[in-house]
Amino acid sequence: YNVPFPLNEPVNPYIPGDSATESLLAKYKEMYNQAPIDVPMYIGGKEVRTEDKRPMSPPHDHQKVLGHFNYGGAEHVHAAIDAALAAKAEWSALPWEHRASIFLKAADLLAGPFRDKMNAATMLGQSKNVMQAEIDAACEMIDFLKFNVAYMQQIYAEQPESSDGVWNRLEYRPLEGFTFAITPFNFTAIAANLPASMAMMGNTVVWKPAESQVYSAQVIMELFKEAGVPDGVINMITVDGPVAGDIVFKHRDFAGLHFTGSTGVFKHLWKEIGANLEVYRTYPRIVGETGGKDFVVAHRSAHPKQVATAISRGAFEFQGQKCSAASRAYLPSNIAQEVLDYVVEDVNSFKMGSTEDPSNFINAVIDEKAFDKIAGYIDFINNADDAKVLAGGKYDKSKGYFIEPTVVVTENPKFKTMCEEIFGPVITIYVYDENKFEETCHLVDETSDYALTGCIFSQDRYAINTGMKILENAAGNFYINDKPTGAVVGQQPFGGARGSGTNDKAGSYLNLLRWVSPRTIKETF
Ligand code: SER
Repeated sequence: YNVPFPLNEPVNPYIPGDSATESLLAKYKEMYNQAPIDVPMYIGGKEVRTEDKRPMSPPHDHQKVLGHFNYGGAEHVHAAIDAALAAKAEWSALPWEHRASIFLKAADLLAGPFRDKMNAATMLGQSKNVMQAEIDAACEMIDFLKFNVAYMQQIYAEQPESSDGVWNRLEYRPLEGFTFAITPFNFTAIAANLPASMAMMGNTVVWKPAESQVYSAQVIMELFKEAGVPDGVINMITVDGPVAGDIVFKHRDFAGLHFTGSTGVFKHLWKEIGANLEVYRTYPRIVGETGGKDFVVAHRSAHPKQVATAISRGAFEFQGQKCSAASRAYLPSNIAQEVLDYVVEDVNSFKMGSTEDPSNFINAVIDEKAFDKIAGYIDFINNADDAKVLAGGKYDKSKGYFIEPTVVVTENPKFKTMCEEIFGPVITIYVYDENKFEETCHLVDETSDYALTGCIFSQDRYAINTGMKILENAAGNFYINDKPTGAVVGQQPFGGARGSGTNDKAGSYLNLLRWVSPRTIKETF
């Protein structure tokens, strides 16, 4: 269909000393130094505050209190559902052009006056460096909003055949009831996109952001309000997960879950929804993007430097806290040493520290719980006989939750950290006999329960095809001669299967289709 597609938002290069960089860093300082803020819940357009105030701090500077957010309880979950249901009739009756214009305006506001604030909030609250904030909180969020409007038009244009005397049509109605979005800390763009994509299709939403992302979640709510999203269409609550789940998943009008987070939580929620099927008026839609154990496989024909860059960037951008991050690598014996030398050299050149200094490539991991879990894995590796740390391996939480980017080699292809998701800056590498590429691909396929991203490096088309075939179910996003992170909306629709999710491809019409319940209409004359 002839739908005009947008261009991807250009990534601002933030060259040190240029006016864009000065302006962003000034915003960061202003937000760091301002009086502590008090982030409300947003229910039916009203700001709701409670007695239960929880602190927000930069992960790289955890003694600094940026402010508090208000923690709610059961009554706020009920109120958010009621507000979503109350807003539904008017919102879903709006012409789609009206809904589209609101989200396009949000994209324009974010490209302009909101850009510094959204990026700075992501740098402060989630410890992303300037470039990681820019590609997420600005570019990816803008792209999600604009491309989804184009996909929405594409979907609405798809109509059945008609004939003389008969007019058939599909009416793309939103789901009946309210929808629920649960979002993670690691992408501000995902936090915005999950509720926005459902709302765009005419749904109204209860949104529960991760507690460690609330600082930028508030800026998202401000952005949507400024763009004209009506009261009650997106209701943001900060409450205990089980308290929210107990109410949402037992509600007759619960119509869909849009989730990004851990595999364990998603499976638990799916079971809870299944157990309540008799309660619901309609089968709820369930869309989830969960964990990953994402691989780099090199063939003996690969360029060593290319492989090394994929490892050091793919594993350590944003401290490895991407579901897409490279976390295991398989190197052929003929180039392994050269690749490892490059990786170690690159990783040792990374500066680590606060996000206000743009030259720090590595910042802090999100919170103490994550820090302790990752540090536990590093202790395990340090005590193992069949693994060795080549770079990094130290951690310190005295000022911020800092963990050095850690490169590990093992002789055991089933070593614990070759199989389990760590969600932090650790990559484990196994060197294989260069003549055993096919066996190694089978090993990659069998070693993990996930299937999110993966990449293969080779200059040999036959090897690429062989790897592609053996690994056909091992990654929803498969990269040839490139790192496994950084999918761009509109270019690489994102999502995986197995333990990684329902593979409904964020940033594509496939995802938006999950949020409509079409009515087929036949009219005869
Ligand atoms: N879309 C992100 C990436 O590709 C992960 O969510 O890195």
